[in-house]
Amino acid sequence: MNGWSMDSWRRFPASQLPRYPDEGALAAAEARLRRYPPLVFAGEARRLTTALARAGEGRGFVLQGGDCAESFQDFTADIIRDTFRVLLQMSVVLTFGAGVPVTKIGRMAGQYAKPRSSDNETRDGVSLPSYRGDIINGPDFTAAARMPDPARMESAYFQSAGTMNLLRAFAGGGYADLHQAHRWNLGFVARSPLAQRYQELAHRIDETMKFMAACGMTSTTTPQLHETEFYTSHEALLLPYEEALTRTDSTTGEPYACSAHFLWIGDRTRQPDGAHVEFLRGVRNPIGLKVGPTLEPEGLLRLMDRLNPDGQPGRLTLISRMGADKVARCLPPLLRAARRHGMPVAWLCDPMHGNTITTANRMKTRKFDQILAEVRGFFDVHAAEGSTPGGLHVEMTGQDVTECTGGAHALSEHDLSARYETFCDPRLNAEQALEMAFLVAEELKARRGGPADMVAAQ
Ligand code: PEP
Ligand code: CO
Repeated sequence: MNGWSMDSWRRFPASQLPRYPDEGALAAAEARLRRYPPLVFAGEARRLTTALARAGEGRGFVLQGGDCAESFQDFTADIIRDTFRVLLQMSVVLTFGAGVPVTKIGRMAGQYAKPRSSDNETRDGVSLPSYRGDIINGPDFTAAARMPDPARMESAYFQSAGTMNLLRAFAGGGYADLHQAHRWNLGFVARSPLAQRYQELAHRIDETMKFMAACGMTSTTTPQLHETEFYTSHEALLLPYEEALTRTDSTTGEPYACSAHFLWIGDRTRQPDGAHVEFLRGVRNPIGLKVGPTLEPEGLLRLMDRLNPDGQPGRLTLISRMGADKVARCLPPLLRAARRHGMPVAWLCDPMHGNTITTANRMKTRKFDQILAEVRGFFDVHAAEGSTPGGLHVEMTGQDVTECTGGAHALSEHDLSARYETFCDPRLNAEQALEMAFLVAEELKARRGGPADMVAAQ
């Protein structure tokens, strides 16, 4: 690829990268990472490209979700299991709603680096460098914790490897059995204050599974019901780390970022002549581009050409994150520009990052209704433009946290302090995430037409 090498990004202006005080320590950490085994394999990334191409054509749907920022502290089997479980539960419901296979991608096993709107944070007159995610510095408000430390890249690598190992075991070892995920959903429906609303959909899934079993399709006869494919993803922000984990695939001779299957470019680092775009244009993984309200159609086209010059289906996923009040105005010109261009892309909706607000007592939160309104707006735009929504990108956790307001339990701003545990943005808790899946499934099914309109009309 013209002019690209694993380190060519170093010649381009880079925003959001930390300045490490000890360059020798940085180079030594990078050298060690370069020798470590890859966390994912090129063949897996290629399978995901195929799945994303299907989603772009309307023959699949993508569910991408997980923490805003994973943390070194929350590295336990239970936390990983719970997020994985809720993603599976959501995916069962969405599969039924969308009527197509759902590809599951975790913001997991590597989502440790965060872009920040401000370089510094000031508390009581004291100013320190902002927290940029555990792979860079620590969240405590002390000068020592906030100093970027390259040793953290290795901790992140090993924690990603541990997380990945567990995810692979869950995905292939029977934990992901479709019947199991469905039983968990029945438990959720029974507990939800909106039980009645979801019962209909849950009941239909139940009937379908019984019918399948009667036709001889059980977990024993049909391995697809017993295991699942689960992919990992994170924002490709910390380029020294990403470069050090890039490997040449022995089958094709092409470079793959082996820190995760899918990497995306954030809304703050998508400068067409910037280092992040330069790095990602050369690796062969499927990649994502966050598309916010400040991106103009010409800018989008330029980025599409730079990131996917061959127009390969599945290579580029556009992740719209406009805000509920902007999606109807800002998305259509971009959607039209992309269509005129002719490059096949999948469009995902990230209804989180355009809907963050700060409460009177300075807590970051998001309203469940606003999140849902953006998803509906995104679907409306696609319906009006005659294109298909490719999937959802959400910040969620399997824990019972109180970070977003609303949902069936009607969490209020007063409830937020009870379990506000995020290291960065507010996440949907397990129940809110599932509730969202049910509501989105209703929308999807109604939009496909047919008897499910009844469900949506309730
Ligand atoms: C994120 O996905 O965590 C994020 C920072 O998003 P964006 O780049 O869209 O603001
Ligand atoms: Co976030």
